Amino acid sequence: MTIVVTTPTGHVGSRVVRLLLQAGVRPRVLVRDPARLDAATRERVDVRRGDLTDAAFVREATSGARTVFWVDPTPHSSEDPIETSDRTADPLIEAAQAGDVARVVLLSSVGAEKRHGAGHIDGLARIEERLDATSADTLHLRCGYFFTNLLMDLDGLAGGVLTTPFHPDVPMAWVDPRDIGDVVAARLLNDDWKGHEIQAVHGPEDLTFQQVAAILTEVLGRTVQLVVVGEDDVREALRSAGLSPTAVEGIVGMSAGTRDLVPEQPRDVVTTTPTPLAAWAYAHLRPALSQ
Ligand SMILES: NC(=O)c1ccc[n+]([C@@H]2O[C@H](COP(=O)([O-])OP(=O)(O)OC[C@H]3O[C@@H](n4cnc5c(N)ncnc54)[C@H](OP(=O)(O)O)[C@@H]3O)[C@@H](O)[C@H]2O)c1
Repeated sequence: MTIVVTTPTGHVGSRVVRLLLQAGVRPRVLVRDPARLDAATRERVDVRRGDLTDAAFVREATSGARTVFWVDPTPHSSEDPIETSDRTADPLIEAAQAGDVARVVLLSSVGAEKRHGAGHIDGLARIEERLDATSADTLHLRCGYFFTNLLMDLDGLAGGVLTTPFHPDVPMAWVDPRDIGDVVAARLLNDDWKGHEIQAVHGPEDLTFQQVAAILTEVLGRTVQLVVVGEDDVREALRSAGLSPTAVEGIVGMSAGTRDLVPEQPRDVVTTTPTPLAAWAYAHLRPALSQ
């Protein structure tokens, strides 16, 4: 039973690898730079070195695997992010079509159920659809908004400002990627599920951005003020940073297209994961801000 893990150095993938090791499994990891794995992990995994955008590498490295955990590596800043996400998954889909891969767990997102109109998330929707057209067993994990997104604007938070294009008072699912890794590992290790499944990963509770600002204020011990920016302001900032028009719309679409979305999968005991935002912020955001 070979389990392939992509992005083993990422927030989710690193947790998946650790749990597989603890379960007594030696996973095959697809990694650009093995030096980014710690030495103890490196010697316990089967390393395949390569880039996920290299189709020949992915086709060869997934071949003969019973199960693949696929994380789309496409940056939001790609020239054409939706098309790139879709194309990057080509060798995986080819392997599933050929019967070289039997099961795929896909790291997907809340919003993929829309299929169109959720910006870069539409790329994950396309991968869901294409995988489901193969004979492989598939599980799409539609995840909420990662706590780790807060690490992308440390300067703003250091200055006491949390900036968002989302509605300040509409609750949405916020989740610790480490908890997603727990769900992924559990599913990779369970050999019983079959067919095409969708499971959401919603974190412990839905939160509004106002509530998030209040939690951060409490944890950081200083005021974090919420600043809501309009779509056009986001467009202008991204254009000024040199992003292509398609990339700009891919990013704007992720918030604009999911702002009033009621997720297709309702929150329940299976979708709810344990780590509260306050605990994550205490463990990860506070130290990051004090560096
Ligand atoms: N952020 C959200 O709110 C959210 C919500 C739902 C779904 N998602 C999905 O979550 C995924 C990101 O997961 P994450 O947060 O765990 O990742 P992450 O911590 O941001 O790490 C990115 C990972 O991708 C690897 N990577 C990037 N480009 C690569 C390439 N060309 N070839 C091989 N590896 C590459 C990086 O490896 P290196 O160590 O080599 O850099 C790293 O392991 C995305 O697919 C996103 O669509 C995100």
